[in-house]
Amino acid sequence: MKDELLEIGKKAKEEIEKISNLEGLNNLRVKYLGKRGEITSILRGISNVEPQKRPEIGAIANQIRAEIEELIEKKTKALKEEEKNKRMLEETIDVTLPGKRCAFGNKHPLTKILEEIQSIFLGLGFSVAEGPEVETDYYNFEALNLPKDHPARDMQDTFFINSEVLLRTHTSPVQVRVMEKAYPELPVKIICPGKVYRRDDDATHSPMFTQVEGLAVDKRITFSDLKGTLSKFVQIMFGEKTKVRFRPSFFPFTEPSAEVDISCVICAGKGCRVCGNTGWLEILGAGMVHPKVLEMSGYNPEEAAGFAFGMGVERIAMLKYGIDDLRLFYDNDLRFLKQF
Ligand code: PHE
Repeated sequence: MKDELLEIGKKAKEEIEKISNLEGLNNLRVKYLGKRGEITSILRGISNVEPQKRPEIGAIANQIRAEIEELIEKKTKALKEEEKNKRMLEETIDVTLPGKRCAFGNKHPLTKILEEIQSIFLGLGFSVAEGPEVETDYYNFEALNLPKDHPARDMQDTFFINSEVLLRTHTSPVQVRVMEKAYPELPVKIICPGKVYRRDDDATHSPMFTQVEGLAVDKRITFSDLKGTLSKFVQIMFGEKTKVRFRPSFFPFTEPSAEVDISCVICAGKGCRVCGNTGWLEILGAGMVHPKVLEMSGYNPEEAAGFAFGMGVERIAMLKYGIDDLRLFYDNDLRFLKQF
């Protein structure tokens, strides 16, 4: 039995030596050391051995087992190392291959215009204010001199949440909110960019759109301050040569009120399809803050005066970029968005 074991040990060493892959090595492990392996099966016959000789046989079996185990262990390491080196050679990186391009996003055209508008007004000493998009009837209408039955409410048909709460139709309620908070401090100079909502939907109107409100209140603000501020804004936004025109208009919260046009950016005022042959394009509404609005916000109209304006950001972006359909801003079509 001793000879048999030694013979197995020798055979195992030879076979392990020769094997050149991990799978084969594992088969050898099973063959020699497994529960039904060769060593175990020989030891099964140990009952035929004289009792005194059994310990010696056992010791030899254990030693051979340990030797085989060690050999397999070493061989496993060697084979793994070999495989790794082989893979490293095969997997060399070709640095001349073109890389995978990752798609960069860019700012939405409306965001870009908004940022431009904000930076112009920040440069003129205005700061940025915000207000809620879900607004109360009081701030959206009443505090702006539009009582419940006022016919001018029809100009801004909107989405009501209930009889007192609605989606704001313009950013003008922020005028009141800001003045209430600032009182009695002067001057107040803010712009408010934000989303507004109206019951409108066609190529030039969307149920949701973007406005920038402006408000300046101080002891002696006049209409010429309004004119100067807006002219400066238009010149920076559309170019030095752009002309500004004020047309008399009506808003319940300003008096006097004006609609402000710029000379057509396409035809420079000669008349074309975009400006409907008038040479002018309307870009915003403005006026001197109505005394009643000042009063409702806490200020004494005898001691303070102000101007306000509200512009449509989509409209400005359309003129600046030559976009002919407002809905393109909201379609999320990458072919459109990538152009900015
Ligand atoms: N809120 C007005 C509108 O949305 C615009 C406006 C703002 C007019 C401020 C005058 C003063 O139509």
